[in-house]
Amino acid sequence: MKVVTVVGTRPQLIKAAPVSRALSAAGIDERLLDTGQHYDDDMSQAFFRELALPPPAYSLGVGSDTHGRMTARMIEGIEAALMTESPDAVLVYGDTNSTLAGALAAAKLGIQIGHVEAGLRSFRPSMPEEINRRLTDHCSTLLFCPTATAVRQLKAEGLAHPDTGEAQESLEQCQTLDIATHPFAVNIGDVMVDALLSTRAHYEHHPPAIDLPDDDFVLLTLHRAENTDDPEILSHIIRQVFDLATALPVLFPVHPRTRECLERYGLWQEVQSHPGIRCESPLSYGAVTWVQANAKVIVTDSGGIQKEAAILGVPCVTLRDETEWVETVSSGWNRLLGNRPESLRDAALHAEAPRSAPLTCFGDGHAADRIAAILSRI
Ligand code: UD1
Repeated sequence: MKVVTVVGTRPQLIKAAPVSRALSAAGIDERLLDTGQHYDDDMSQAFFRELALPPPAYSLGVGSDTHGRMTARMIEGIEAALMTESPDAVLVYGDTNSTLAGALAAAKLGIQIGHVEAGLRSFRPSMPEEINRRLTDHCSTLLFCPTATAVRQLKAEGLAHPDTGEAQESLEQCQTLDIATHPFAVNIGDVMVDALLSTRAHYEHHPPAIDLPDDDFVLLTLHRAENTDDPEILSHIIRQVFDLATALPVLFPVHPRTRECLERYGLWQEVQSHPGIRCESPLSYGAVTWVQANAKVIVTDSGGIQKEAAILGVPCVTLRDETEWVETVSSGWNRLLGNRPESLRDAALHAEAPRSAPLTCFGDGHAADRIAAILSRI
């Protein structure tokens, strides 16, 4: 049994790490293909080292480009690798251009596609990630859903058998499921929970060497195109962050895309020199997990961080109008503020933990084992 795994961005490396370990334990031969969509060391190679991922068998080095050209160049490189490897299945993660390119290249060669994080929707058709995830789901044969909501969505789109269960399958059930049912969708839980739980357990005993700004501080992350690429929106968000930073110190690991936009719009100097804001390079996964767990509140537009906040039990304010992770909002851990907030300061200062416990609906930390159990049966 041979699998080619397509990765290319930071969150994909984080998600692929526990799955790689589970595949290896199950005796499945895995070849990693890195498209190079994220190419800075602290967004890519540093994660290969930190998460002990096997070195990629293929590195396409595609880098930044227009969406169309980037996706086309990836398809060409992935197709060549798949023709050399002839794998039994291709694994793709999430909703990036690398995800879609991997799925299209495999679909054209008639290779089974396993989509990890299938069934998520923002219902915003103009969002590049929404286009990628919809198309990838519609050409995948093994739809590995992280939640019951995702399974229901695939049923509504005619992609999952109406009898498909929504409850998270046990590992034993995964070993007997009828994977010939086409297309096959299953709630295996979220592989990011696997990554988060193992990293948190490690850092409880070995805290990473990072100074926290204060007892109470805000963690800020920002990188979605709809927030960074429009100078008016980015400038509005930054003014709101300045206001918040007068009340609570802000720790801001700056995504390369965001830094580039801040520089282009002449905002970088002001952000960097603001006394209430500490800018950092992108943090390692261990460090960001530690910072999140210790923050008073998190302000973000990241999908993964909204979810991690709810699992770690830290209130979160999200600078988007919608989220794919609806459970974080319905449980009260996350508030959607949009990207033109009137007062980010009020929203962040008043964000409180709800009465409900930190969320467990995203899984039990064994999603990767379920993927390995299902793939072993192909
Ligand atoms: C991705 C998906 C998104 C999905 C989410 C969760 C993309 C473009 N989108 O994006 O739709 O909902 O994964 O599965 O892939 N982190 C660090 N260091 C830092 C900052 C963040 O390690 O300095 C970690 C976070 O802890 C988190 C991950 O990176 O695990 C998030 O990556 P991010 O780049 O924010 O992508 P998402 O928006 O989560």
